[in-house]
Amino acid sequence: MSKSSVSRRGFMGGAAAALGYMGLNPASDLSAKEFSLDAFRRSSQEFDFDSYARLSSNENAWAPSESVLDAVTASFKYANRYGDPGENVVAAIAERDGVEENMVMTTPGSGAFLRVVGTTFLGTNKKVIGVEPTYSSVYRHATGLKADVIALPLNADATQNIDAMIEATRKNYRDVGLVYLVNPNNPTGIVVNKSDVQKLLDGIPEDVPVLVDEAYHHFVQDPNYETAIPHILEGRPVIVARTFSKIYGMAAIRLGYGIASPEMIDKMRPHQTGNVSVLARWGGVAALKDTESEAKFLKDTLDLRNKTVAELEAMGHRILPSETNFFFVYTGRPVAEVQEAFRQKGVLVGRPFPPMLDYLRVSIGTAEEMDRFMAAWKEIFPATAADNL
Ligand SMILES: Cc1ncc(COP(=O)(O)O)c(C=O)c1O
Repeated sequence: MSKSSVSRRGFMGGAAAALGYMGLNPASDLSAKEFSLDAFRRSSQEFDFDSYARLSSNENAWAPSESVLDAVTASFKYANRYGDPGENVVAAIAERDGVEENMVMTTPGSGAFLRVVGTTFLGTNKKVIGVEPTYSSVYRHATGLKADVIALPLNADATQNIDAMIEATRKNYRDVGLVYLVNPNNPTGIVVNKSDVQKLLDGIPEDVPVLVDEAYHHFVQDPNYETAIPHILEGRPVIVARTFSKIYGMAAIRLGYGIASPEMIDKMRPHQTGNVSVLARWGGVAALKDTESEAKFLKDTLDLRNKTVAELEAMGHRILPSETNFFFVYTGRPVAEVQEAFRQKGVLVGRPFPPMLDYLRVSIGTAEEMDRFMAAWKEIFPATAADNL
């Protein structure tokens, strides 16, 4: 077990807060001992939550990295204040992504940013255009705003139908508030390559806002993929959403952001709700600096994904080509049933994604979690069943 480099005093503050929350007595439990980060992450109390292999929400199963934990722990010093003297996460993001600071909006998770975009550009009788299945929170929010959702079917190979998106946008031009493109898509894991993003932008009127959700950007290896940020710099009304919940392992710390022109950010600013906590801001800066941990999480994730996919393919199963930290596998039976069978074996997997109700989304977990997944898979799908797929 690796020892923490966190100063003992700083670390104790964080651990004591965590244990205090759980109703334990930090003084008697912690004061005389040395603690490792591993123990800090797992805490001394086990919950039923911890007994599952959690392959259902596309998180990073290992992180945050030690340097993020160090920074988050140090930030506790200012947990009782509205302000703090350090760590400008907006500047760090702007530098990493090659944009100006006034083009960045941070939010508690990127889900919150997607809502800011929806509230700004949608409303009664406005339309959002995208595909189905995709990450559907924008559609749910749109429905709440009394906007219409035009969710187009995927192509036969599960890629996004760019021609149909262009046609629907042109046909509804006056009412289109937003085109929503998740790249790579969730739950399929498939990328839209840069020439298709260009085709979409060339095919629709220049003033239609396009929200490109790049939650899984950091995992993509396909050389034909490119972030949509250059289109913002060219002057198109493109908005890019990113998150620290995936590669940086900060899902519960909540940090996400959007990039857009300063004019679009100004337009969205009044609709922003909620602040990013000091933990998220300091943790986020540390995450961006720690490129070594980022590279290691990426390598471990892709190695485990490729190994699991190869094993399933060798058994005759069909899997869509993923560029993310999850994959979408054909089950040949209703996925709700399959999900429950896995749960009974202590493995949580993805929910049903209509209309692809016979595909299962599996997030990449630790090596141990993937072993549990494979053992459960072999019991749920005996070899003879795979032959019939
Ligand atoms: C495509 C996509 N966008 C946005 C999110 C929201 O993530 P968060 O709010 O944790 O940043 C997710 C989470 O799974 C996602 O898959």
